[in-house]
Amino acid sequence: MSNSWSWYVILGTIVTLAACFWLVTYANRQRASAEEIKESESHVWDENVRELNNPLPMWWLWLFILTIVWSAFYLIYFPGMGDYGGMSGWSQEGQYAEEVAAAEARYGPIFAEYGAMEVTELARNPDALEIGASLFQNYCSQCHGSTAKGARGFPNLTDDDWLYGGMPAQIEQSIVSGRTGVMPPLAAVFASDEALDEMVRYVQAMPDGMDTTSPAHTQYMTLCIACHGPTGAGVQALGAPSLVDDIWLYGSSPAEIKRTIVEGRNGVMPANGDLVGSDRARILAAYVYSLSQ
Ligand code: HEC
Ligand code: HEC
Repeated sequence: MSNSWSWYVILGTIVTLAACFWLVTYANRQRASAEEIKESESHVWDENVRELNNPLPMWWLWLFILTIVWSAFYLIYFPGMGDYGGMSGWSQEGQYAEEVAAAEARYGPIFAEYGAMEVTELARNPDALEIGASLFQNYCSQCHGSTAKGARGFPNLTDDDWLYGGMPAQIEQSIVSGRTGVMPPLAAVFASDEALDEMVRYVQAMPDGMDTTSPAHTQYMTLCIACHGPTGAGVQALGAPSLVDDIWLYGSSPAEIKRTIVEGRNGVMPANGDLVGSDRARILAAYVYSLSQ
């Protein structure tokens, strides 16, 4: 916060508190007299609902004053007045850092022990998997789902179908360094809309076997083969999915397939190495690895 903003907040807070105090005492000085109260009895609604002008009971008034006094002490003790940190020295960041340090001291040695083990070994260790499952809920479930079964555009991690490979090292690399799928937009390479639709039909039917008589097959063999492979089984080094296994990252409807070819796709798995650190990345890799075993 810049200095002037800090003063702006401090002034605003003090003026508000003073105004509250003034309002409470002022209203109290304007207490209605006995006649005024009587007079106001003339206001009657629904036959028996009468308006009275009774002053606040004293204990209620004192509650107001006490909250104002309390807030003054609170603002001296805790941060709240602009940049002034308060006498207690407490801060959200400080508390967070303390909690992180405490958790690090408690779990650090466990993580370090697991981090030094092989993924395949960890995947057989129930304690490590339990920690992996809770890390997964924290860091991964928002995209891959709490059961890791994924969603449209987010791959299922529990099946044996991998974009980038299901070996421990490949999974770990996906987690640590992230991945970006590059399916280029290819609308321009089709001579006509009919040729494009032919390709869509061809791709949709690929799980049932490649139709070598289709004109789209010739095109596949020149345009798509480099990434999706001659048999359509995909190339993991490029993250190009198999098109013959009937597992679809973006859906199998003609509309979705067409959109993939026309606009391209760029699924992004963020790099988590800096966020979770190498030990936890290994535990997560073991957890993910165990899901498909
Ligand atoms: C912001 C969303 C997001 C988060 C968070 C995320 N992922 Fe991913 N992940 C993706 C996407 C999208 C892909 C597919 C990338 C592509 O299409 O090329 C992916 C791919 C992967 C892959 C490769 C799958 C394959 O078939 O090869 C693994 C393994 C993986 N994620 C594990 C994790 C783990 C473990 C975490 C938690 C630490 C995590 N992901 C967090 C979005 C996410
Ligand atoms: C430069 C490499 C490359 C070329 C060339 C390429 N693709 Fe792809 N394709 C990919 C990648 C990588 C993905 C995954 C995108 C992602 O993860 O977001 C993909 C995804 C797809 C998908 C979605 C699959 C699913 O599971 O939902 C279809 C369909 C597809 N490609 C069809 C084709 C067709 C048809 C051609 C040729 C006309 C082609 N691709 C050419 C790399 C390529």
